[in-house]
Amino acid sequence: MEWRVAAIISLWLIAGAYSFPSVSDSFENDLESQARLFLAEYDRQSSEKCFNAANANWNYATDIRDETEKIKLQKSLENSKFQKEAWKNITIQFKTRENFQDPVLVRTLKKIAIIGTSASALPEERLKEFKQLQNTMSKIYSTAKTCAYEDVTECNLSLDPDLTKIMKESRDEQQLRHAWKEWHDKVGVPIRQYYKPYVDFSNEIAKTNNFSDAGAFWLREYESETFKEEIEQLWQTLKPFYQQMHAYVRAKLRDTYGDQFTEDGLIPAHLLGNMWAQSWENIYSLVVPFPEKTSIDVTEQMKQQGYTPLKMFQVSDEFFTSLGLIPMPPEFWKESLLEKPNDREVVCHASAWDFCNRKDFRIKQCTVVTTKDLITVHHEMGHVQYYLQYKDQPLIFRRGANPGFHEAVGDTLALSVITPKHLKEIGLLDDSTPIDDYETSINFLLSMALEKIAFLPFGYLIDKYRWDIFDGTVEPSNYNAHWWKLRREYQGIKPPVERSEENFDAGAKYHVPADVEYLRYFVSKVIQFQFHRSLCLEAGQYDPEDPRKPLHNCDIYRSKAAGSKLAAGLAMGSSRPWPEAMKVMTGQDKMDASAIREYFKPLEDWLILQNAKLAQPPGWQ
Ligand SMILES: *[C@@H]1O[C@H](CO)[C@@H](O)[C@H](O)[C@H]1NC(C)=O
Ligand SMILES: *[C@@H]1O[C@H](CO)[C@@H](O)[C@H](O)[C@H]1NC(C)=O
Ligand SMILES: *[C@@H]1O[C@H](CO)[C@@H](O)[C@H](O)[C@H]1NC(C)=O
Repeated sequence: MEWRVAAIISLWLIAGAYSFPSVSDSFENDLESQARLFLAEYDRQSSEKCFNAANANWNYATDIRDETEKIKLQKSLENSKFQKEAWKNITIQFKTRENFQDPVLVRTLKKIAIIGTSASALPEERLKEFKQLQNTMSKIYSTAKTCAYEDVTECNLSLDPDLTKIMKESRDEQQLRHAWKEWHDKVGVPIRQYYKPYVDFSNEIAKTNNFSDAGAFWLREYESETFKEEIEQLWQTLKPFYQQMHAYVRAKLRDTYGDQFTEDGLIPAHLLGNMWAQSWENIYSLVVPFPEKTSIDVTEQMKQQGYTPLKMFQVSDEFFTSLGLIPMPPEFWKESLLEKPNDREVVCHASAWDFCNRKDFRIKQCTVVTTKDLITVHHEMGHVQYYLQYKDQPLIFRRGANPGFHEAVGDTLALSVITPKHLKEIGLLDDSTPIDDYETSINFLLSMALEKIAFLPFGYLIDKYRWDIFDGTVEPSNYNAHWWKLRREYQGIKPPVERSEENFDAGAKYHVPADVEYLRYFVSKVIQFQFHRSLCLEAGQYDPEDPRKPLHNCDIYRSKAAGSKLAAGLAMGSSRPWPEAMKVMTGQDKMDASAIREYFKPLEDWLILQNAKLAQPPGWQ
């Protein structure tokens, strides 16, 4: 503490002795110096609080017990309390902060002021009530059990792994319909009554922070007044491609489930291999364009070669370091949880952790040796790489340039890793497998599109739906009707069984009851292709003029040039508005769907021909 007093005095003297600005200027300058000191102290204390909260949260997530849960809650409340106090101090001491000369200072104070109030803007009693409500919804979601199709008196099926497995593997329409209905009824219906109160709380918090509603509050992180319009614009650009894919998949599914389709052109939501029809890679085998050609699934190879979860992370780390990026520190390898332990309950949902002390970074993932998990490993490692790159920023700027950036880093690298070229290079595809022929490329691109393109309308509508609720466009009496209106309009799907306002089908998707913003995933899907294109050009692995160097087969492995370009953007954290980070990484300062379209161009052309042949006009009523 002592150093602080001394520093204030000496700065005071310096200001007094060496500058002769007008009285008010000098007052502002003093205030700015004070603000700097305040921030240094804030950073120190906040990091400590943040570490304690992260640590307690980790201990809970890797060992679910009443005791660990209690400590987690306590540390989280301590952190909230501290942030609220900091916010109060800022509003009292630095009333004129928006007029400060130093823009970094203005930005920092602004961010802290919002963070400080977001969680704890409510009076203590109301805050407790709100947390209770969130807990209730989350608990309904995470503990729901459903009844089996074969025996409706056996009611202990969970979403994970039971229902997920059915949705993924079953091709029995009745069974799929049953699983879909069970999940949506057992989760959505009981959550419905809590949603309106949740919406009111969320809006109240937003208003305390001077935002019009909770949707606007979420959007603040994108720092653009026109972000909603930009997103809609992007979607409109991508929609024709989505519709081509939709039409092709619909035609193929008709071969398997003919009687489920009617003239409206909509696809029943239970037939797409996923509970929410949000990504369709699980029905690849039903829609594969050239079944006799290679498909990129290296699960068997990994198993044969004795891959372990640890090995998968080592392979990923090697990819990052081959670009000259930062290797995972020793603490990472020592403390991470990379496999599901069998001696305790853990939260298996994969996540990456920053302990706010510039030292501890971890991943928690119940990794299984599969191709899909190999991609997830890279996704999570991307988060940690971001943490490492911006670790020297002040705590408040140790965040993604916007939330979509954080989701995009690992995915960007995975776009290289998953190429047939790279899989060959690291020995996961047989050297003799032909990969450069047209049919294999189309197979590959379709498998990518089932994951990335199928997701786009879903990634958009989850938040569009909630924006409409938060701003009052949609009344509680229309919650479910509006959900299906958007699902129909954007995704072109329909419910497999009749729905009413008894139901609350949006509530059956994790992020809705869990109060997690979702637009980040849409943004990530778009910008990761911009990053990929830029890095591929930098690495000399993509040439728009050269058909032998297509974007979809570009691998930036070992390109230090690509790595340093990426690192330069990541290291900025959120210290600048995101278009600046994007400019550094891509030369563009806007989101732009042209990179996705370029990547998938051969597939889009193929789909258009195919749909014409199958007499499948894209679109629906
Ligand atoms: C807020 O100000 C008080 C009084 O100056 C101080 O004791 C406290 O540490 C400050 N807290 C934060 C979080 O800034
Ligand atoms: C569900 O319960 C039945 C009988 O009560 C039991 O045989 C079965 O193993 C249980 N399944 C799971 C996934 O716990
Ligand atoms: C919101 O605006 C009011 C009035 O301008 C102000 O008093 C209050 O401090 C602001 N709240 C926040 C969190 O900035």
